[in-house]
Amino acid sequence: MTRPLIIAPSLLASDFARLGEEVRAVDRAGADWIHIDVMDGHFVPNITIGPAVVKALRRHSDKVFDVHLMIAPVDAYLEAFAGAGADIVTVHAEAGAHVHRSLQTIRELGCRAGLALNPGTPAAAVEPLLGDVDLILCMTVNPGFGGQAFIPAVLDKIRLIRSWTEGRNVDIEVDGGITAATAPKVWEAGANVLVAGSAVFRGGEDAYAANIAAVRSAVETTAV
Ligand code: DX5
Ligand code: ZN
Repeated sequence: MTRPLIIAPSLLASDFARLGEEVRAVDRAGADWIHIDVMDGHFVPNITIGPAVVKALRRHSDKVFDVHLMIAPVDAYLEAFAGAGADIVTVHAEAGAHVHRSLQTIRELGCRAGLALNPGTPAAAVEPLLGDVDLILCMTVNPGFGGQAFIPAVLDKIRLIRSWTEGRNVDIEVDGGITAATAPKVWEAGANVLVAGSAVFRGGEDAYAANIAAVRSAVETTAV
């Protein structure tokens, strides 16, 4: 199995008054990517940050900025997030009628294109779009908040999507309720990018490296 394990701390669980320092802290602590949750109070019942904040954070880390857009409509904002320094821009399959257009636009803007599925959205939603995605995000909670419980029913969907993406350069990402306990399950099902918010940003800055290492080693010690 050659797929890389990628740990992506979600800034949603960080101290928003110290975002730049928090990005530097998880960068130093061993984060592979930085996961940035953008919420609009419409597609999801919470509001977070916009492209100006992503741009301001860009100078704090050279790691991949993995921008998860939970906004609808989304197309009018893609250019702003790409221009702000996003490396990956992920849109939700449920966020609009023309998701194919959104994915094409993201690639035209020079970013990797991600497609997210809510827990209640079937795998079939990505099947016609497999040639247009670089990453598929299987939400393992209903998006909107950190600290929610992992939904195990998503594991079967991950397995199915992994079977469709064998041989393609497509990452499978999970987001929500990822801890050292759930990480081995999603890895075994076929996910390779693990977003973790509350499991990383707890115990203060000095604990971040151990928190990230705990998720990583939980996978590495159970991986076959
Ligand atoms: C939820 C967000 C997640 C969130 C995960 O809508 O997309 O990225 O930060 O938080 P935890 O890891 O605490 O479940
Ligand atoms: Zn997210």
